[in-house]
Amino acid sequence: MTGQSNDESIEVMLAAAETFPPPPGFAEGSRFSDPAIYEKASGDPEGWWAGWAGELEWFEPWKEVLDWSDPPHARWFEGGRINASVNCLDRHVAAGRGDRIAYLWEAEDADDGSGDGRRGVTYGELLEETCRFANGLRGLGIGRGDVVGIYMPMVPETVVAMLACARIGAVHNVVFGGFSPESVRDRMDVSGARALVTADATLRRGSPVPMKAALDQVLDGLGGLEHVIVLDRCGTDPPMAEGRDLRWADVIAGQPEKCEPERMESEDPLFILYTSGSTASPKGIVHTTGGYLTHVSATHRMVFDLRDDDVYWCAADIGWVTGHSYIVYGPLLNGATSVMYEGAPDYPTRDRWWEIAARYGATILYTAPTAIRTFMKWGDDLPAAHDLSKLRLLGSVGEPINPEAWLWYRHHIGGDRCPIVDTWWQTETGGIMISPLPAITATKPGSATLPLPGIEAKILDGEGHEIEGQGLGGNLVITKPWPGMARTLYREPERFIETYWSRFGQETYAVGDAAFRDGDGYFWIVGRLDDVINVSGHRLSTMEVEAAVDSHPSVAEAAVIGVPDEQTGQAIVAFVTPRDGTSDGVEPEAMTAEIREHVAERIGKLARPARVYYSEDLPKTRSGKIMRRLLRDIATGHDLGDTTTLRDPSVVESLAAQVEAADS
Ligand code: PRX
Repeated sequence: MTGQSNDESIEVMLAAAETFPPPPGFAEGSRFSDPAIYEKASGDPEGWWAGWAGELEWFEPWKEVLDWSDPPHARWFEGGRINASVNCLDRHVAAGRGDRIAYLWEAEDADDGSGDGRRGVTYGELLEETCRFANGLRGLGIGRGDVVGIYMPMVPETVVAMLACARIGAVHNVVFGGFSPESVRDRMDVSGARALVTADATLRRGSPVPMKAALDQVLDGLGGLEHVIVLDRCGTDPPMAEGRDLRWADVIAGQPEKCEPERMESEDPLFILYTSGSTASPKGIVHTTGGYLTHVSATHRMVFDLRDDDVYWCAADIGWVTGHSYIVYGPLLNGATSVMYEGAPDYPTRDRWWEIAARYGATILYTAPTAIRTFMKWGDDLPAAHDLSKLRLLGSVGEPINPEAWLWYRHHIGGDRCPIVDTWWQTETGGIMISPLPAITATKPGSATLPLPGIEAKILDGEGHEIEGQGLGGNLVITKPWPGMARTLYREPERFIETYWSRFGQETYAVGDAAFRDGDGYFWIVGRLDDVINVSGHRLSTMEVEAAVDSHPSVAEAAVIGVPDEQTGQAIVAFVTPRDGTSDGVEPEAMTAEIREHVAERIGKLARPARVYYSEDLPKTRSGKIMRRLLRDIATGHDLGDTTTLRDPSVVESLAAQVEAADS
């Protein structure tokens, strides 16, 4: 990424950069229109964050804003006691806002005639449901510090389950519904989960896809898992194991609508979220309470310029960090009204999102570049057929957005009047780090612009020196602690330090992304520097996929790489040597289908290789090391240069021929 091959694309991006100042009038009524907040925050970052923390409700005030005496172990708001669910719910109800809608939920089958597919869930109702479920969990003996898995569809009960955990001090471990049951099992196993909350099924394009019954095939043998709680979403009536499985309705039956919240320490864990790293085993990112809540409430309010009458729609899934921070905690902390849609964007028709945006009068839409590119492909006429005039702000997250998609989003969705906030952050950062403030920052398509007030980012060369020149790529780092930062990796404290805090010293957070700055100091994020790939905004590890492909009984050896893809950002390509040692007998189509299915079972459909190529050996050096760089060049059709140093150069020719045949 930092090498010469990148310089050309950087120049192209910089040359094309057009600047869009905040639209006229946008700053009126904005709380964040004064650029002086950047200096205010950088002059006294602790005071800045303490100001935001002070807007939350604490049982006991903190004694110290930040303890950074033992980096990389930050302690924010030490001594303070707080409960996340109280701040998300009770606080608003107590202020007389219990009737305010928290979620405008739309089922995928909202128009099935049953009449219950559109629900407005108020803060008051959410509090009652949370308390009842929290009491139910307590009744099962779940409490402070226990890990509770959540594997659920996009329904308000998922939020209830998360907040109920927070209320009683249990640590939620949400697994995205698109991951396979085996992935859920692994994540329950490594986190020692005592309970798992799931649903009978999730609706996908009109049909129920079983969740509970699929889990049954893999959960046996998880000794620590005492309870599986099953929400009835689709009425599919899955088998229930006596003594272990409970229906959601039975867990809450007869439970009081009040539940005494735990007075958590600021640094007590709030949740674990597993994410892919550069090895085959996912990392359990641990976020704690006071600092995380401070960071997500502040950034949600600033970046989205949140106003009282906004109808905010973050179209991510709750199972990813974007959902945790900007569907659940950020919006609820700020008393926002959010849209939540359960299903697929093309069901029953490809304009479902625009119908929803128009129906609820969404004013803010936050989504991923891959979705935007898909909508571009589906055609301008779909959004044009709906009234999107209420939209006033658009957001992008999850991967670099190409300028073409940015400009399309601005014109066809935002009607050329909405600022776009391209927000850079990660599971590890907890909340947004680099992003425009829409009433202040002039935006450029493809740039996440500047670190938010209170955040300090730099670009370092390989030796750790700051790169100040324009357009020179390097390692993105964060140089000051921030309240939402991950505190550790669950049960792997050493790996936390090694992965993020050793490359440039223990006070510098090594992000793992390559980036560069332009003449205005704007940050442009190029992509990952490690083996993490980003497919349609889903973060995956090539090593994890490789291990899954390798475990197929007919595979002797596999190498997996990410390649650029116009639609999905990156795509997964696998190179496989079949077990009989020759590729002659392989029926590529049948074997590819099998491998894809196998990966879907091991990880989830999202990790299936887009293409698989076969050869009798993989390109290796004479010492037997797989040459991944060469595989990348093969897969992208680049000039392969001198391959004579390889153990068996003919392998390369055969693979290159397959790639060429597939592309033509
Ligand atoms: O490479 C960056 C990319 O997504 C990675 C983080 O993925 P994850 O932890 O799954 O979180 C995604 C949602 C916050 C980053 O290391 N990324 C995220 N946002 C952007 C981005 N790349 C460029 N621009 C962004 N706005």
